[in-house]
Amino acid sequence: MNEERLFSTRNRWTVVSVAAIGGLLLLALLIGFVWVPYNQNGRQIAGLWDAICRAAGAPGGGTAASEGGSRIASSDVIVIPRMIAADNVSVGRGATLALRCTMCHGARGMSEANTPNLAGQDAESIYKQLRDLQSGHRGSEIMAPHARNLSDQDMRDLATYYAYLPRQTPPPTLVEQLKAPRLVQIGAPMRNVAPCASCHGGSDRKTATPLLDGEPEAYIRAQLIAFANGSRHNDIGGQMRNVARQMTPEEIDLVARYYAQR
Ligand code: HEC
Ligand code: HEC
Repeated sequence: MNEERLFSTRNRWTVVSVAAIGGLLLLALLIGFVWVPYNQNGRQIAGLWDAICRAAGAPGGGTAASEGGSRIASSDVIVIPRMIAADNVSVGRGATLALRCTMCHGARGMSEANTPNLAGQDAESIYKQLRDLQSGHRGSEIMAPHARNLSDQDMRDLATYYAYLPRQTPPPTLVEQLKAPRLVQIGAPMRNVAPCASCHGGSDRKTATPLLDGEPEAYIRAQLIAFANGSRHNDIGGQMRNVARQMTPEEIDLVARYYAQR
């Protein structure tokens, strides 16, 4: 009898406490999902729904808004480790497809001009770049037309083939004599720049991050300048733009020369 009355709507205390808890819950939700996301520094919130999505950790409709204020997403490739499955059939198909690339990238993926070398390049990186060049996330008047008609499987096969080719690098003894610039090994902590070697190989490798060793000096320099001024913006999360913007022209020259000689 007693219990029935306790949980009945006729019991004033039950009504008051349920209403109070409900009110607190609503207030907490409003603070957590609306007020906090709206008042985060440096965040552009596209609307109520976007704010709620961000608070819940789900990329809402306005994800691109957070990237340097630009509305263009940097890439539509979702980078996952080992997204390219290598096998002999793929290498064979890739070799045939690569015949149309030789005039710029060299007969065995080593170019004599200032075109990037593809031999021995990371397969995930080649695949991601081709996807970006095809979708327009990475612009290149020279290269984009050659990516346009490739199917997804073509891009995977080309990536497998080029990754399989050996890269001609100078003998290890010569590489050891090269003194790595500070920026490569230590970075610049005061400017929030992580060491290049922590992503590009040397001390660690990150997925779909290109190897720079032996790339043409002019190409490395051009890419760093393009990242710095934002004309290249297909790096997910702006990770390369943030580095390049912090570099002086002298540092760009120094690291480009260093990596080209490796
Ligand atoms: C007419 C010359 C030309 C042809 C043909 C060509 N490329 Fe390229 N490729 C370039 C240039 C130039 C760049 C550098 C673009 C830039 O400066 O951003 C490039 C960049 C690339 C990149 C990005 C490399 C990196 O490290 O970021 C990949 C991958 C690539 N090409 C693959 C291919 C494949 C595969 C083919 C054949 C289907 C091909 N290319 C045909 C000129 C060419
Ligand atoms: C936090 C990781 C990270 C750090 C640190 C970093 N990079 Fe990168 N870098 C990347 C990624 C990821 C890409 C590929 C971006 C893309 O997807 O197009 C890239 C691309 C590049 C490219 C273009 C290569 C190509 O073939 O397309 C150059 C050049 C480069 N980085 C130079 C440097 C130098 C020099 C430093 C040190 C001063 C550095 N990076 C530090 C992650 C990093």
